[in-house]
Amino acid sequence: MADFELLTLERLGDGVAVLTLANGKVNALSRELLAEIGAAVDELASDLPGAVVITGGDRLFAAGADISQFGGPDEAAVIGFGFHAALDAVAALPRFVIAAVSGFALGGGCELALACDYRIASERAVFGQPEILLGIVPGGGGTQRLPRVVGTSRAKEMCITGRQVRAEEALRIGLADEVVAPEDLMERSLALAAQVAAGASTAQAICKRLIDEGVETSLADGLALEREGFVEAFRTDDARTGVASFLEHGPGNATFTGH
Ligand code: COA
Repeated sequence: MADFELLTLERLGDGVAVLTLANGKVNALSRELLAEIGAAVDELASDLPGAVVITGGDRLFAAGADISQFGGPDEAAVIGFGFHAALDAVAALPRFVIAAVSGFALGGGCELALACDYRIASERAVFGQPEILLGIVPGGGGTQRLPRVVGTSRAKEMCITGRQVRAEEALRIGLADEVVAPEDLMERSLALAAQVAAGASTAQAICKRLIDEGVETSLADGLALEREGFVEAFRTDDARTGVASFLEHGPGNATFTGH
């Protein structure tokens, strides 16, 4: 496994991989940390786990881009490219990726959480896109992924005022998918990831792809994609195992290999 300085990447015995940001006081998403996230995702993609949890540790998730690296428009182009490369790679992982958000997920931190498939928030979590308070705009997908999750009007309000949203409101608007007590955050995130990791991984990857591609297209085109994906899933070993197991033992008893 590659050596990382600003994050840790751990593979657990149950097929779950845990990526933990570890960059100083606030996990600032510096160019270097974004490069490490990209490298960690490459490593995961080359030997896929069953599911992934991304966390910033017990205190906070991430306070956004490293503001000390900001300069003029030329630096902004580089920083924006780095964000999109790393976060698109997270989003494209063909596995269920859970963000476990313990505290602040601001700016690029919120955008990293949005690049994940599912967000579990501690009761202490706070989400926001405060870039506007610096006189700039989100550059890590916030103007694009946030409205797809919470709707355009709420996304505009959050990005245009920079207002931060606490866990309960995040749950209500769909920005958080679950809220748990702080001490339960990792246990719940790892348990869900383990449940997913024990499932039919290839079919799960097809589901993820169909949903991600489908929401970007017309209903008719999305349904056409689904017809192809439906057939594709039937080519897996897990489809044969799952259907045979149902007929013999009833629902929920299949043991999948992920192939
Ligand atoms: N980039 C670089 N450094 C950052 C940072 C960021 N995004 N966010 C915080 N820091 C630094 C602070 O400058 C401070 O450094 P210092 O200890 O050397 O003075 C340290 O991290 C702790 O921050 P502080 O504000 O003192 O801690 P806090 O607990 O009171 O507040 C935050 C934490 C995250 C709420 C607050 O720091 C904040 O709002 N950060 C900026 C968030 C932001 O605008 N992100 C979008 C960037 S485009």
